[in-house]
Amino acid sequence: MKNINSKKIISMIITILMAFSLSGCAQGKASAGLSKVDKIKEQGKIVIGTSADYPPYEFHKSIQGKDTIVGFDIEIAKEVAKDLGVKLEIKDMKFDGLLAALETGNIDFVAAGMTPTEDRKKNVDFSTIYYTAVQCVVIRAEDEGAIKSLGDLKGKKVGVQKGAVQEQLAKVQLTTSDIKPLGKVSDLMLSLSTKKVDAVIVELPVAKAYVKQNSSLALSKIQLKTGEEGSAVAVKKGNEDLVSSINTTITKLIKNKAIDKLVTDANSITE
Ligand code: ARG
Repeated sequence: MKNINSKKIISMIITILMAFSLSGCAQGKASAGLSKVDKIKEQGKIVIGTSADYPPYEFHKSIQGKDTIVGFDIEIAKEVAKDLGVKLEIKDMKFDGLLAALETGNIDFVAAGMTPTEDRKKNVDFSTIYYTAVQCVVIRAEDEGAIKSLGDLKGKKVGVQKGAVQEQLAKVQLTTSDIKPLGKVSDLMLSLSTKKVDAVIVELPVAKAYVKQNSSLALSKIQLKTGEEGSAVAVKKGNEDLVSSINTTITKLIKNKAIDKLVTDANSITE
């Protein structure tokens, strides 16, 4: 009898202890909150925000009759998703809306050839730089003889992407030109061929891609002083675990020269 009682008491104590530890667990989890990476894993997907007007970084291409967003930023994003073990969802928007979308949580990260400028760093965190290109000026092929230096752009209309570093660069370096900011680079190039603007500033690989697609356009010989440069992934401040996961993926891709191959592959399909 005595024996049975002590057994009962022990089992009661164990039950009480378990109940305590379980509620303790639940409380701990709720108060600590899930980290960004945990949330992404729980949802089974990560959302990239991009501006798919920037070949070979990101652009629209019809693949088997279906409009698809491709480019080396997208391939890097796919690797990021793969390393996290989740699916990638792509949201295409205007470049100048990307950081706001990050802020509101509409997207988890930005991969859009975005330069990690000091100004942007005040609001978002950046991964390490994965690619660097110089700025250059696209003009109409018929103007190749007339527009050869920065001075030749005096009084001309120069198109830049709204919110991009090129807008700032133009305002500082092309004080005698008429700067025309537009939301999409594709519209800038259309404005150039239809003579609404006379020049467009973009990064070199992008210039080459548009010139390859359109024989009425040409790459000018104009040299611009480069300010802040390079492309990095942007993440909302406070998501250190996501930044470090993205950095692990990027470092791996840089080390095994995979990024160079992704750039070459993306270049070969910009037609
Ligand atoms: N590198 C420039 C910037 O960060 C331009 C990037 C434009 N990217 C794009 N997908 N349109 O401002």
